[in-house]
Amino acid sequence: MNYQGVINRYKKYLPVTEATPIITLLEGDTPLILTKKLGPKIGEGIEVYLKYEGLNPTGSFKDRGMTLAVSKAKEKGAKAVICASTGNTSASAAAYAVCAGMKCVVLIPKGSIALGKLAQALIHGAQVVAIDGNFDDCLTLVREITDKYPIELVNSLNPYRIEGQKTASFEICDTLGDAPEYHFIPVGNAGNITAYWQGYKEYKDMGKITKLPKMCGFQAEGAAPIVRKKIVKDPQTIATAIKIGNPASWKRAEAARDESTGLIDLVSDDEIIAAYKYLAAEEGIFVEPASAASVAGLLKLNKQGFFKNAKPNTQNPIRIICVLTGHGLKDPDRAIASIAEPQVLPKDLKAVVKEIGF
Ligand code: F0G
Repeated sequence: MNYQGVINRYKKYLPVTEATPIITLLEGDTPLILTKKLGPKIGEGIEVYLKYEGLNPTGSFKDRGMTLAVSKAKEKGAKAVICASTGNTSASAAAYAVCAGMKCVVLIPKGSIALGKLAQALIHGAQVVAIDGNFDDCLTLVREITDKYPIELVNSLNPYRIEGQKTASFEICDTLGDAPEYHFIPVGNAGNITAYWQGYKEYKDMGKITKLPKMCGFQAEGAAPIVRKKIVKDPQTIATAIKIGNPASWKRAEAARDESTGLIDLVSDDEIIAAYKYLAAEEGIFVEPASAASVAGLLKLNKQGFFKNAKPNTQNPIRIICVLTGHGLKDPDRAIASIAEPQVLPKDLKAVVKEIGF
């Protein structure tokens, strides 16, 4: 049968029944790309794979969780969904709400979401409310609203979001035949690191894999509350998707880190941009800046000698996953700001030929 989305594929591991209407845009089944340059750059016998979540229907990993959250909301008869968002959750909620025939309301921090994401929420017909505050303020408002009014919360505080997102770990293990040794991931509101860890643990408990990866999460330097062990009141980073000062799944991210004997560290905006450009220029993969935090983290740890004592061999390479959470086209302004603008020439053959080096 043709691919039918993550709920159909992993139904037996998800909280759905015959009564659940499956609202899907055929999310999931994203490529796991073995890097040609990044792996060898880290070291011999080290394989770095990119889980390219930007290829989901709305361009980010949020669709995995949204298919389940919206399906369950529909099952229970909800007429409307709401979320706070740095952009991707709102784009995804807006699209899935269309499929479910529901109203969608999104609260976004004014002036802080990338152009592509805003365009998505608007074109899908969501009611977009820009709040004069940051993401954390938006989430506080949304929690209060959903406590009092009949509208379904579809942020990752909704357990179905995490359940849906854990399917990405299943896909990785199904493709590799076992779990990887390391799992690198950007951390914002911390739902995704929670979901991946849950997915790996469930697969291990079911005997589908023999080991668990070390979870290595990365926050942006100016928005790193977990690393700094305190709420960041005014988070700052060019990686707007992870510009979050008080993550909802803070404790669960720490649990993923500690149970897996992994780490949560920070990367600077410069390191994020360097990794963002590296992925585009060396691997041919365009991601949004926040997504590059996983690769920035890998490059940072490698520079510090993290893999120095690793003992891979050809039979047992060390396998590292970097999750690329969102597509580069989400934030075209950042791409253009990061690279020199194209040169303008007169419509003259000689001038063009000379410029391109013939
Ligand atoms: N990468 C991207 C592209 C994101 O959009 C997000 C979160 C993250 C990473 C971090 O994931 O929050 O599960 O730790 N975006 C949310 C949003 C907050 O509203 O779209 P997380």
